[in-house]
Amino acid sequence: MRSEDEMVAYALETHTALLPYLPELLADLQELGGNAEAISSVLDDLNLTKSATVADLGCGKGAVAVAVAEALNFKVVGIDLFEPFIESCRELAERHGVSDLCHFINGDILKLAGKIGPCDVAVFAALGDVLGPLDQTVSVIRQYVRPGGFMVISDGFIKDGGSSDFPGFEQYAERAEMITRLSACGDTLVREIIDEDSIDGGEDEMIAVRARAIAARQPEIAADVLNYAAMQSAEYEYIRENFVSAIWVLNRSY
Ligand SMILES: C[S@@+](CC[C@H](N)C(=O)[O-])C[C@H]1O[C@@H](n2cnc3c(N)ncnc32)[C@H](O)[C@@H]1O
Repeated sequence: MRSEDEMVAYALETHTALLPYLPELLADLQELGGNAEAISSVLDDLNLTKSATVADLGCGKGAVAVAVAEALNFKVVGIDLFEPFIESCRELAERHGVSDLCHFINGDILKLAGKIGPCDVAVFAALGDVLGPLDQTVSVIRQYVRPGGFMVISDGFIKDGGSSDFPGFEQYAERAEMITRLSACGDTLVREIIDEDSIDGGEDEMIAVRARAIAARQPEIAADVLNYAAMQSAEYEYIRENFVSAIWVLNRSY
């Protein structure tokens, strides 16, 4: 598994010069990968008690956390490494009238594992392999969940015959291998939803439009923002051709 420092560096490495511009580049995207409505509906189907608690790990700008609080009235704690996103989370919760149900923490989900909760559910949406391969990822996520609780993981697998030869996707495999990794800690896969529409909202074009506006305004950062937009576009293209998005629900066994 990556060390905490390596993991933080990994999350931020491509963005160092861009960090101040990330909120603007991503301004049009409330969801940063996870499908908030689908995840909220999955949690609804778990028939949890009214007092259920949820941890949203790597909550981004709060789309999933707020959707869950609003639709299901559950208490949600969202954790993210990137401080400006935490501010966006709080604003979003405020706008949706669920500030009393949501608590957002600026922190590292690896460092905080075992220190928060245990909750009834932990959501891990669109973080990819920041915690390493899926078996190692699950071993961290389950520390946020009580025995008998659930882990909702929005991730995916390589299409049959597809390639994992793209930066950030080297650890991915086809479905059978990913399912094996999911169950490596002895937990039970209770549901799988193939999410065909996970990234088909023109997200890469929205980022490109923002990048062009920043580049026109601030020529000194133009190359970096345009390169970032091009990398995002290449990644979305890779995903469309080689990747199947899935939401998996695991039941923590012990
Ligand atoms: C692609 S976004 C997904 C956000 C959110 N789950 C969603 O679906 O909208 C990934 C998020 O994970 C956060 N992240 C990455 N590594 C993290 C870590 N070790 N601890 C906390 N947050 C992390 C990033 O800052 C980013 O906001």
